[in-house]
Amino acid sequence: MVANREAQTVLITGASAGIGKITCLYLAEKGYNVIGTSRASSRLGDLYSEADQRGVTVHGLELDINSDAEVQRVMPEVFNQFGEIHALVNNAGYGLWGPLEIVSIDEMKTLFETNVFAVLRMTQVVLPAMIERRAGKIVNISSVLGRLATPFNGAYASSKYALEGLSESMNHEVSPFGVHVALVEPGLFETEFQRSQVRAQRADDPNLAYAPYVQRYNDRHQTFDKLASDPVKVAKVIHKIIRSRRPALRHPVGLESHAGIMGTRLLPGRLFQWMLGRATLK
Ligand SMILES: NC(=O)c1ccc[n+]([C@@H]2O[C@H](COP(=O)([O-])OP(=O)(O)OC[C@H]3O[C@@H](n4cnc5c(N)ncnc54)[C@H](OP(=O)(O)O)[C@@H]3O)[C@@H](O)[C@H]2O)c1
Repeated sequence: MVANREAQTVLITGASAGIGKITCLYLAEKGYNVIGTSRASSRLGDLYSEADQRGVTVHGLELDINSDAEVQRVMPEVFNQFGEIHALVNNAGYGLWGPLEIVSIDEMKTLFETNVFAVLRMTQVVLPAMIERRAGKIVNISSVLGRLATPFNGAYASSKYALEGLSESMNHEVSPFGVHVALVEPGLFETEFQRSQVRAQRADDPNLAYAPYVQRYNDRHQTFDKLASDPVKVAKVIHKIIRSRRPALRHPVGLESHAGIMGTRLLPGRLFQWMLGRATLK
């Protein structure tokens, strides 16, 4: 890895696919030093070849963000090589699907390891230098499901609601030092997310009382999937946050996200919940 010490450095977790990959490429094209992580460097092949095609460089980094020991071992090497990290994009994450009655506590803990605790771990590693420098951006990729919760996505939604609380509180703590935390709240985007989503072990048990509702949900969801849009829209929002002197805390991206969040704010709670139920299940 040869770092360009003149350019600002952005570290993006979960860069092997989807939003993380496209954001690496987009920011590299904008002239940033970009470091993209994956738990297995073998999964970074697409990122490298697409960077080649675009004539840019992205620095791949094998890092299991879920491991304290690994983050403590690898990150000092990153600081040595790149100096400052100007922005951290906590993007890595996945979905866990199934009725909450049967999601196991272990499945839930593993989800929170990545979607919440790894975000805190990575942030705690980069924050001290940002606070000292009085500058830096932490961009946390949340979801529209961090603002509203649909059936059978309760595990995932609760991890994103946790991320929202963590980010809002941290932003109050660090903004006096010139460091800003921002939440990106995408709607539906074309990535590996749906294919990589974990189904709770008991989710498809035909004896569950929820089975007919799961069927209806799946039918509805196929329609929603057609609405998925190009993740470069998310990359552009991330770029805007990184460039902004004082970014806003929350950034919905995509029509479904704007519409859903506006519904939570403008409609009476009972009406909004009824509409959400109708749209997803009934
Ligand atoms: N796509 C959407 O519609 C959508 C909507 C709202 C929010 N989001 C959020 O956007 C972020 C990126 O998702 P995506 O749609 O780009 O999904 P994706 O295409 O599946 O990519 C997910 C990335 O996260 C990493 N990752 C997945 N599980 C991990 C784990 N257990 N530990 C560490 N890293 C893990 C993967 O890296 P490795 O497997 O290579 O380590 C991969 O690079 C997520 O936080 C997701 O919740 C997505």
